[in-house]
Amino acid sequence: MISTQKLSISYHGRTVLRNASLVAEPGKVLALVGPSGCGKSSFLCALNRMTDLLPGARVSGQITFDGQGIEEAFASPVELRRNVGMIFQKPNPFAMSIRRNIELAVREHGRHSRSDRQRIIESVLRDVGLWDEVHDRLDHSALELSGGQQQRLCIARALALKPQVLLMDEPCSALDPIAADRVEQLIRSMRGQYTIIIVTHNLAQARRLADHMAVFWICEGVGEIIEYGETESLFRSSANPLVTSYLSGRSG
Ligand SMILES: Nc1ncnc2c1ncn2[C@@H]1O[C@H](COP(=O)(O)OP(=O)(O)OP(=O)(O)O)[C@@H](O)[C@H]1O
Ligand SMILES: [Mg+2]
Repeated sequence: MISTQKLSISYHGRTVLRNASLVAEPGKVLALVGPSGCGKSSFLCALNRMTDLLPGARVSGQITFDGQGIEEAFASPVELRRNVGMIFQKPNPFAMSIRRNIELAVREHGRHSRSDRQRIIESVLRDVGLWDEVHDRLDHSALELSGGQQQRLCIARALALKPQVLLMDEPCSALDPIAADRVEQLIRSMRGQYTIIIVTHNLAQARRLADHMAVFWICEGVGEIIEYGETESLFRSSANPLVTSYLSGRSG
């Protein structure tokens, strides 16, 4: 469904990721792992063209969505981002009410009656397990929520746009272990409904969550994908000694 062919990314002329080719299969979870600075976040940002917004960033190669180049598949970057949503490491709700955070996303999808909007708000908050916690304070500021609740609200906001793909950049790493576990369970429950590409430094989490995994590495100063495949088989054995050593926790 979403794939890249020889994707390279540079900032101000310095290449940080070279020839990255991979496929994210529909309804599956793909984990991107690898040491710091090897271009995982840059890769994720390129997928929904957020790199367009970064000064000095240049992307070359192909990104295809259902077999079509993303430029043909989507009329505009905004349309692309509606279908390919992003969740960041640090929860970033808007400084407005819980209700407004989701309402704004719902409005992006055209005109709805007030009762339709209310129904969608309830439905996405239930999807992320937040409804029971917040239904009696929907008009309070989203910033009053705990970090883990804020992250689940951000996921609810992304779901309100009815995306097909969700990109997640270390979505649990700024959360305490219990909140992180809830978000991880949520991601697991979304498997099958969305195509998910998640960056994580937590290899145990990658193993628990991901159907497929891509290992990024820095080769001669430039990020590359050095391994890609089914998660369990990579953990059990990889032809690449660097990958075996990294996945067993001996390096990286
Ligand atoms: N906006 C930017 N402008 C210039 N250089 C950047 C920018 N964003 C990232 N880089 C550089 O690109 C390289 C890859 O960074 P990126 O954030 O993609 O790595 P990462 O794999 O996500 O690392 P981490 O695991 O630490 O999050 C790094 O050398 C970084 O300094
Ligand atoms: Mg990163």
